Parts: sequence; structure tokens; C-alpha cells
Amino acid sequence: MVNVIGLGYIGLPTALMMASHGVEVIGTDYNKELVATLNAGRTTFKEDGLDELFQDAVKAGIKFTTEYQVTDTYIVSVPTPYDKFSKKVDACYVVAAVKEVLKVCPKGATVVIESTVSPGTIEKYVRPVIEEHGFTIGEDLNLVHAPERIIPGNMVYELLHNNRTIGADDKAVGEKVKALYASFCQGEIVVTDIKTAEMTKVVENTFRAVNIAFANELAKICRHDNMDVYEIIKICNMHPRVNILQPGPGVGGHCISVDPWFLVGDYPSLTKVIWDAMKVNDSMPDFVLNRIYEIMKEKGMTDISRVGLYGLTYKENVDDMRESPTLQLLESQERHLAAGLKVYDPFIEKDVVKNQYHSLDEFLDAVDLVVIMVKHNEIKENMGKLAGKVVLDCHNICDLPGVYHI
Ligand SMILES: NC(=O)c1ccc[n+]([C@@H]2O[C@H](COP(=O)([O-])OP(=O)(O)OC[C@H]3O[C@@H](n4cnc5c(N)ncnc54)[C@H](O)[C@@H]3O)[C@@H](O)[C@H]2O)c1
Repeated sequence: MVNVIGLGYIGLPTALMMASHGVEVIGTDYNKELVATLNAGRTTFKEDGLDELFQDAVKAGIKFTTEYQVTDTYIVSVPTPYDKFSKKVDACYVVAAVKEVLKVCPKGATVVIESTVSPGTIEKYVRPVIEEHGFTIGEDLNLVHAPERIIPGNMVYELLHNNRTIGADDKAVGEKVKALYASFCQGEIVVTDIKTAEMTKVVENTFRAVNIAFANELAKICRHDNMDVYEIIKICNMHPRVNILQPGPGVGGHCISVDPWFLVGDYPSLTKVIWDAMKVNDSMPDFVLNRIYEIMKEKGMTDISRVGLYGLTYKENVDDMRESPTLQLLESQERHLAAGLKVYDPFIEKDVVKNQYHSLDEFLDAVDLVVIMVKHNEIKENMGKLAGKVVLDCHNICDLPGVYHI
């Protein structure tokens, strides 16, 4: 039986996927409300295909609880934020979860850390906890790292199809855990050592962050000298060895805006490109705010409360707002004493910020300048409703005449 610890954006779909592929699974989360919701037959976030997967897993017998289980395999999928000051990974959730596992796990169990951690984190923070408990790693307990790569919005498909990495001290243990993931994963599963697995996950997200920063920097250069960044990227990408990403209003979420900092925190004198890239991405919400002021000036608009931000989440068609560019921009405008921007997101039903609307039509009635911060399908399908508005399109999805870009 597998005990999945942490039933958030990653742990829940992983637990459901395993359960619906014949693995006996019990999911544990210390959040009582979350466990009660799951036990009442409801999922805890919106994601394509998640409800169907949930039904399959429930039929297959998955259970949800706040208690850690006595079993032979644990998968730990708890948060790994970064320390805003040192930029290093904050492993406290992982360490706390492993300590709880140690209270119940029998000798011979395998503990798989799925949470994203920087290279050396398991060595530095997790191994000592196990050794202090009196267990010899490799004899009394096996330690494995299996980082997750799925993207919110396409999690169910990617869980099935992505390639995976398993890091283990011992090849045979790695192969055993590989077989567990192969119960549902159709991608290739590479077995390597723990530190290499830790590093690959962080490097993958850093690669994305640096390349997004390059596109964002191009957008700034082009804005400065009145060139069309989208046309330029389109032409450059016709080169057989060039593949530039698209610029945007900033980067959010739990991965690309966080994980590269782990490398900066651990290797401060070796990470100039990564540091600068993160700063460029972090500067984008302010860049958008300046564009708003410029456009208002050009249009003779003086009332910031007639400006509306479309989208609160960090990416399209998900309900995850963590570190989102819109939240960053709203913080900035508070600092600039320009509070008053209106906000709407079809995926956010609760009131989370000031001046938030819950209907697209009411939101559009209340504003003259619409800033497309997130390219949800809803706005793509309702582009006609923006006719007559001033539009700042941060994703180049609106083909109405006179649209402004970042
Ligand atoms: N969200 C993503 O897109 C994504 C993608 C790939 C990897 N990751 C990584 O996966 C890990 C988990 O991220 P997430 O987005 O699922 O986080 P999350 O915040 O959505 O979920 C974590 C869950 O763990 C629970 N939890 C925390 N400590 C616990 C403990 N000691 N015992 C029991 N439950 C506990 C919390 O209540 C929460 O429900 C992180 O390391 C993250 O970097 C996330």
C-alpha cells in the first residue's frame, strides 16, 4: 500500500492516478478541511479530467485521512517554498513530513520525496533526520527522490505521458520505485542518483525561467525602440536553431518563479544569468503597470478605477493564484498609491482582492481599459465583448484594431 503525504496540486492527482491503476493508496493530509472535502466526494481544485480520475480512484478504493499509515511505501508531496531572504529552499515541510512518517513506518519501508528540492537538500536535511531516528538508510529504510514535472491545466495527461526521473542510492531500489510509477506512467523513466535527480528538476524550471526572461527582455527592448516583438520572434523562430518563447506580464506559480532561486541561494557567486533572469521576470508586473499609466496618458484617461485586470491566476485555465503576476501588480499599485484597479477571473469564485468582480459582463461594464493578464479560454471566446474598449493585451491573443501590447 502507498501512503501519499500531502494532497495538494501534485499529491492528489498522483494518489488518484496510482489508485485508478490498481495500486492500493491512502492519501494523508494534515489539512482536516481538505480531507473532509475529499471524503465528501469532492475534489479540491479545478483541473481538466480530475473529477473523472477522482471517481475512478474512489471506485478503486482510495481513502483519505489526516493520519499517517503503517505501510511499506510513502510518497511525500508537500510544499517547498524558498526563503525570500537567503533564496535557499525551505525544506521544513519535507522534514516535518518525514519525521511524522518515521513515527509510524516499519523497518524496510521506502520513502519517496516527490517535492522539488535543490541539489543536496535530501543529503543535508532529510538523511540526518532518519539517522537521528536510529535507522540506517539502505538497511532500515530506503530513500528515493522522484520529482514531478506536470503542468497545471494539463496534469492528468502529463501524469500519464511525461518522462520521469527517479533518484536512488541503490539501483535496485530505484528500479522498484520505477515499477510503481510505471503502473500508470507511459513515458520513459530514468533511474539515477538522488542529487542528480534533485538537480535535473531545478535545472528544467530554471531553463524555462531564463528563456522566458529572454523573451521579456526582448519585449522591453522592442517597446523602447518601437519595434514589434511578436513579429520579430516569429521571424527569428523560422531559423532552424532558434526557438524563442513569448513575452508575458510576469511569471508565477509554485515552480518557475520559485525553483531557480534555489540555485541562486546555494551558488550565489555562480548564478549571474539566473539571478538576472529572475529579476527580469519579477520586473514584468511593474512594466505592465507602467504601460497602463502610459496608455492612460495617451488616451487622456485619469481614473485608475476605470482600468480592469482580466485574470488573477498565474496561468490560463487553472485556479492557482500563487505568486501570480496580477497579485504582484496589485501589490505594486498599492505601493504606488494608485489603488483602485478592478479585477476579474472566472476561476476565482471567492473574494480575494479589492474591487473584484464575478461576472465578465459586469466587469467589462465597469471599465474602459482592459488589461489581459491571463489568456483563459473564456476571454478568447468573448473577444467581441472587448470591442469599443481600450485593450492592453499582455499575451498577443486579441486581434481587435488598436490593441496595445507590452
Ligand atoms: N504545483 C505544481 O505545479 C508543481 C509542479 C511540479 C512540482 N511541484 C512541487 O510539488 C510539491 C508540492 O506542491 P503542491 O503544488 O502540490 O503544493 P500544495 O500546497 O498544493 O500541496 C501541499 C499539501 O501538503 C499538505 N501538507 C504540508 N505538510 C504536510 C504534512 N507534514 N503532513 C501532511 N500534509 C502536509 C498541505 O496541507 C497541502 O495540502 C512542491 O515541492 C512543488 O514545488 C509542484
